[in-house]
Amino acid sequence: MAEISFAEATRTWVLNAASSTYAFRLDEDDAPSHVYWGPALTAAEVGELGVTTQPWWDGFNDPNEGLDELAADGGTRYWTPALQVRFADGTRALEWRYTGHEITGDHLRVDFADRHCPLRIALHYRIPHGTDVIERWTELAGDAEVVRADSASWALPVLDDYRLSHVTGRWAAETQLERVPVAHGETVFASRRGITGHHANPWVMVDDGTATEDHGEVYGVALAWSGSWRMTTTRSSTGRLSISGGFGQDGVVHRPPLTTPVIAGLYTRGGFGAASRAWHDYVRQHVLPHPEELRPVLYNSWEATGFDVTEAGQRALAERAASLGVELFVMDDGWFGARTGDHAGLGDWHVNEERFPDGLKPLVDAVHGLGMKFGIWVEPEMVNPDSDLYRAHPDWVLHHPHRKRSELRRQLVLNFARPDVAAWAHGWLDALVGDHGVDFLKWDMNRPFSEAGWPGEPDQDRLWVEHTRAVYALMDRLRADHPGLRIEACSGGGGRIDLGVMARTDQIWTSDNTDALDRLRIQHGYSQLYPARAMSAWVTDNPNFVTQRSIPLRFRFHVAMAGVLGVGGDIVEWSDEDLALAREQIARYRDIRPVVQHGALYRLRPPSGDGLVALQYVLGDRSVVFAYRQATHFNAPTRPLRLAGLDRSARYLDAGSGRVHSGAVLLSDGLPLTLPKGDFASTVITLTRQDTH
Ligand code: GLA
Repeated sequence: MAEISFAEATRTWVLNAASSTYAFRLDEDDAPSHVYWGPALTAAEVGELGVTTQPWWDGFNDPNEGLDELAADGGTRYWTPALQVRFADGTRALEWRYTGHEITGDHLRVDFADRHCPLRIALHYRIPHGTDVIERWTELAGDAEVVRADSASWALPVLDDYRLSHVTGRWAAETQLERVPVAHGETVFASRRGITGHHANPWVMVDDGTATEDHGEVYGVALAWSGSWRMTTTRSSTGRLSISGGFGQDGVVHRPPLTTPVIAGLYTRGGFGAASRAWHDYVRQHVLPHPEELRPVLYNSWEATGFDVTEAGQRALAERAASLGVELFVMDDGWFGARTGDHAGLGDWHVNEERFPDGLKPLVDAVHGLGMKFGIWVEPEMVNPDSDLYRAHPDWVLHHPHRKRSELRRQLVLNFARPDVAAWAHGWLDALVGDHGVDFLKWDMNRPFSEAGWPGEPDQDRLWVEHTRAVYALMDRLRADHPGLRIEACSGGGGRIDLGVMARTDQIWTSDNTDALDRLRIQHGYSQLYPARAMSAWVTDNPNFVTQRSIPLRFRFHVAMAGVLGVGGDIVEWSDEDLALAREQIARYRDIRPVVQHGALYRLRPPSGDGLVALQYVLGDRSVVFAYRQATHFNAPTRPLRLAGLDRSARYLDAGSGRVHSGAVLLSDGLPLTLPKGDFASTVITLTRQDTH
């Protein structure tokens, strides 16, 4: 149980999470200053910690350098600023004055004001029940120009060395894991695109360079925000490292009142594997709206039909999907307005009457009649210039009066910060969901911002934050009014993967790249922070739509079955043999799904080279092992696959082989793997703990 205490004498707050402790104090000048983050200590033990600052004789560094809880620019603070302000009289920066605090259960709020200028600052800390996560955010009130307002600064203990784990990527190659030594100075990961972005993802993990998948201390920080963001890791020659993260971007000025998004920090022992499992638990229990649910097997029509959507075509796909064991049928792009290609129709959210002469109802009813839920693709924040909406409201898009309106994918961005635009979007989405019994929205966002202006509005910069807030508010409102509605977040694949969108969606479309081989790496990077329960993965056709690679169907299924399984191929054209295999694998997935979606993930062999990749999920008495081998090499030695997360003293039945293994042997020596011969070989093994009585 989380416990938060305050020691008056030393003006120190101690936050005890499930198995770790975080502490900070007020320094002589009232600035909130970091004390400790690491393995659990009692408040009394924290009181014994000496305060380490820079030596007094170093006249070039502030003694508290790198220790600020929210590094405010000003005075002798030269560290990466988390808070930069400018007041009406020209005064820059902040002088802290503590005004009080409040502890309410798992939540701490500490209040400050500037000593002279009109600004109040509240630092918030919250420990979600049963976790080691510390959620932090900052609130600003008063009158100032806020040049930068990060959610928090995180000071790490002095380590022998520092290494960063993060993901990089691009469209159709998102979440590529990197582990790099931290350079001195500032390392910045960011998005200036108005969306989370494919190129970086708003989290970092830091270790001392010695952590492995199974051993070592790992510090992680993740931002819950789906607009532009910055995360800066600063390594100083004085030996310290800190992380500052928040929304916004250089040059965009905010005005109070302002509440930053949550930034979550997590200290773990047990290597990168334990860190990921702790993040997954947090996301499942405290971020996703319906933690207890199992996500259904879905079918999505995009790769099968592209823009060639017809009622008859969708019905045929739906009938076939139902016969395979699919539970949710999703009609993708191409059903509305003049949307027969990417050139037109976005914004005209009424059904295309040539394609659906009797409206959507017959298809929705047919899908429901087949025992499936009905889902539909939408891209509410976008408009094609060739649309009735744009012809009627050319001023609704982000633009500057005398500038070009740059198109990407032949579309422009609607300004959701405008209340009339947000109200319009609510109107048609509410009707679409309510009138047609839509169970699921695939909510897409297929381009970043550009020319982000709002002519006529005195404070145009606020659109950067308020667009994202308006999208959140709209999702929240739709969910509240339609409790059965579930949402998949998508932004050209994985351009909007973050804790902010996960708080109001049920799963994420991980990547437009459905090539099973590429997916192993994408899913590996995704799994560093985000759980399989929210990782949507489809089985599609050969050759692959994006990569043109052909891979056996069994391998494609086995890769997608490690997340939320979907099918996205042209199943009407599949052979009887493929359909039989699909039926079998979907049934298998529905059996193992609780373990995959709710279990603890162990990454046994990460993707590297063309060798064996293996992962394992464990939930209660059941465990599922996935093993994939891209290529065989003549006479290459093999070794058993050492498992994890099992009980040494128990025995486990491998349902496939009928063999019973001792937990100790599986953990110490391993599971002998018998993969089919040839390249792209894969297997899924289920192990069930045997009753020992
Ligand atoms: C984006 C999505 C795809 C598909 C298309 C439709 O690229 O990521 O899955 O929905 O849009 O235009």
